[in-house]
Amino acid sequence: MKQINDKQIDLLKECPYGGCSAKMDPHTLHGLLDELLPERDERVMVDISTHDDAGVFRLNDETALIFTTDFFPPMVADPYTFGAIAASNALSDVYAMGGKPLLSLNLVHYPSNRLPVEGLVAILKGGQDKINEAHCLTMGGHTIDDQIPQYGLAVLGTVHPDRLISNAGAQAGDALILTKPLGIGTLIAAHRLDMVGDKAYRTAIAAMMRLNASASVVMQRYGATAATDVTGFGLVGHARGMAKASGCTLSIDVESLPVLDEVLPLLKEGCIPGACFRNLKFVGDELRAELPFEYKYLCADPQTSGGLLFSVAAEKAEAAVADLHAGGDTSAAIVGTVLPPQGSACILQL
Ligand code: CO
Ligand code: CO
Repeated sequence: MKQINDKQIDLLKECPYGGCSAKMDPHTLHGLLDELLPERDERVMVDISTHDDAGVFRLNDETALIFTTDFFPPMVADPYTFGAIAASNALSDVYAMGGKPLLSLNLVHYPSNRLPVEGLVAILKGGQDKINEAHCLTMGGHTIDDQIPQYGLAVLGTVHPDRLISNAGAQAGDALILTKPLGIGTLIAAHRLDMVGDKAYRTAIAAMMRLNASASVVMQRYGATAATDVTGFGLVGHARGMAKASGCTLSIDVESLPVLDEVLPLLKEGCIPGACFRNLKFVGDELRAELPFEYKYLCADPQTSGGLLFSVAAEKAEAAVADLHAGGDTSAAIVGTVLPPQGSACILQL
């Protein structure tokens, strides 16, 4: 089969927006989900009521199943890279709960009447390489002919029921750690406008392709009290979810946030992804932030396959960050603290 690259197929020509910024507006979504009360079953450990990364079902005393799905349109031109990013992103929801991926299904939409089928193969190959890296097994999938390409996975993972890390356990006094740099949405938007250097863009691609596997192991090693991955709703959106579920306030020191190169100057120039506004509107007055606008937008920037945000006992935080760096999460940093409830879910400060 002939080699396919972004010279032959440009997935970005196929859709106006992709990645996690294509998620439905969280305001609309949460409103709808609140209407759909799940049936009660005492084996369900996590359901949609806490807006966590995945559902969790206790199978027996040794094993809980983590069940999740994520798929979206492309945010990069190259099919292989898109596949790898989409799979890393879908696997991430299992890692965010402290689990290990076990089985996956491919979910694909592809315009086979307009694009060569080699593009579809390249997307699936990119995904499979990440699935292999995660030691997860592909059990099949579902392929639909459609105008806009989309790809992702349904993933089944496992965790010991006593080792589950939900978004609901953060304790006042804990430190907050973020494992990947922010600014992915801004760099993707800037790249479409040819406003970003090659090096910064490549770093963003590498960050999106990176699995949260070793970061998840570090969370377990240090007894993380709560976690979520940071994706389409931005740091503030996902921090809000963790704060609400845990009944506390998350205070984030924006100067300590890991940020991709060129992002803050781009935001300052006004290159702001549309989803930033949507995400800020969603958190509304649950966010307290009196700081320069570029920092506020940075914290609302939609991440695709972003890092883990987790809380851990303050005295363990520095050792956890050192382990994250040693494992290859070289941008990981302590970014704030968990406070008793302060009226707003999230506080950003300089
Ligand atoms: Co997630
Ligand atoms: Co998800």
